[in-house]
Amino acid sequence: MSRLVLLTPSEEFAARAAAAGGLPVGTDLRAWDEEYARIDPSKVVAEVARGDVGVVLVGPEIPLEAALALAGVFDLEHPEICVVIVAERSADLLERALEVGARDVVGPDATVEELGRVIRRMLEMAERRRSKLRGEAAEAEPNRVITVLAPKGGSGKTALATNVAVGLSHSRPGQVALVDLDVQFGDVASALQIVPEQTIADVARSPRALDATAIKIYLSAHPSSLYTLCAPESPVDGDDVTAAVAGHAVGLLATDFRFVVVDTPAGLEEPTVAAVERATDLLFVCTTDVASVRSLRKEVDLLDQLGFTSQRRHYVLNRSDARVGLDTSDIEAVIGARFHAQIPSAKSVPQSMNEGVPLLESDPKSPVGRILTDIVERFAPPVPTAEPAAAEGRGRRWRRDGR
Ligand SMILES: Nc1ncnc2c1ncn2[C@@H]1O[C@H](COP(=O)(O)OP(=O)(O)OP(=O)(O)O)[C@@H](O)[C@H]1O
Ligand SMILES: [Mg+2]
Repeated sequence: MSRLVLLTPSEEFAARAAAAGGLPVGTDLRAWDEEYARIDPSKVVAEVARGDVGVVLVGPEIPLEAALALAGVFDLEHPEICVVIVAERSADLLERALEVGARDVVGPDATVEELGRVIRRMLEMAERRRSKLRGEAAEAEPNRVITVLAPKGGSGKTALATNVAVGLSHSRPGQVALVDLDVQFGDVASALQIVPEQTIADVARSPRALDATAIKIYLSAHPSSLYTLCAPESPVDGDDVTAAVAGHAVGLLATDFRFVVVDTPAGLEEPTVAAVERATDLLFVCTTDVASVRSLRKEVDLLDQLGFTSQRRHYVLNRSDARVGLDTSDIEAVIGARFHAQIPSAKSVPQSMNEGVPLLESDPKSPVGRILTDIVERFAPPVPTAEPAAAEGRGRRWRRDGR
């Protein structure tokens, strides 16, 4: 059975709902953060909807408009989750709540019994919706394009992009492509110990129009069954890779690959914007220094102004333990979002990049490996494996012959 979550500052209501849900009195079901009243509802929803959430009670003691806005975003992004507004019931409010996608309204003074009835009904409804959506999702879910972004160089984009791609490839072998759009100084090939025969510069120079099948000849295979479209060896060759080429390449790969991960250079050059345009997900990387934080805020604002607001946004704080005066909550306040993952500094990160073996290949069980796995699972929940031997093999170093 899926989980119940409460979005309310009221501890008294939370205790009543816990009792109604059959949990010991005093169990705190609240996923509440004071910041939630201030930040973008889609960010709150992204944060709250993680894991096995089936029902969310929104309120009491949060402004009605904010509660309705949250219900609307849940309905849009997580239609499997049933939302109930907790506020003084009226015909008018019920109508508005149902209109934005909430399933019901319950009064803040509802008894334990009344709450119990609502919660049980909603949990059952959530189960039904979930299994129905699962059936449809197999066909309907679009392929994901995850564009990794940071305004400042050296933030950890390539470290993250290569590990996310390899991690996805472990559970979806053959269904993941990684594109290096850092066409001048890209180091995806080196981070994966690949010597590409063809690169994205060859795509740009292709004499014929490419389709989703033809572009595959430009990909290099990594032994984890990941396919990469590498950057050219010489920065000069990168000049041919225009925004149109970048967007076309990413778009073609996204028609056949379940996941396309795009590594980008610092900043928002035109080819990067083209990859943002094709993206379903934006993965922002930030470090703890003021320059990185301020530039990320500007980048996020710019993307908003350009109208790129429909993609799911994910925020990762890299080298999160660096002591340079800004703590995580300061940074979150500046960028206006909460971090979904924090990666501390670790020698193993540069080491693995230098060796050309991503950490998720060499040491997935290390502390940083586990955080990277959590990030991967934001995009693809683990697939249950019938063969334990295959799962064990995940941590092992791969050899050039791929065995
Ligand atoms: N968590 C970490 N701990 C220690 N070193 C790290 C960490 N993350 C990244 N690094 C190192 O920092 C350097 C920069 O990382 P990376 O190349 O991934 O950044 P980038 O954003 O891709 O940079 P560029 O903009 O130049 O492409 C690399 O040497 C990498 O190994
Ligand atoms: Mg890089």
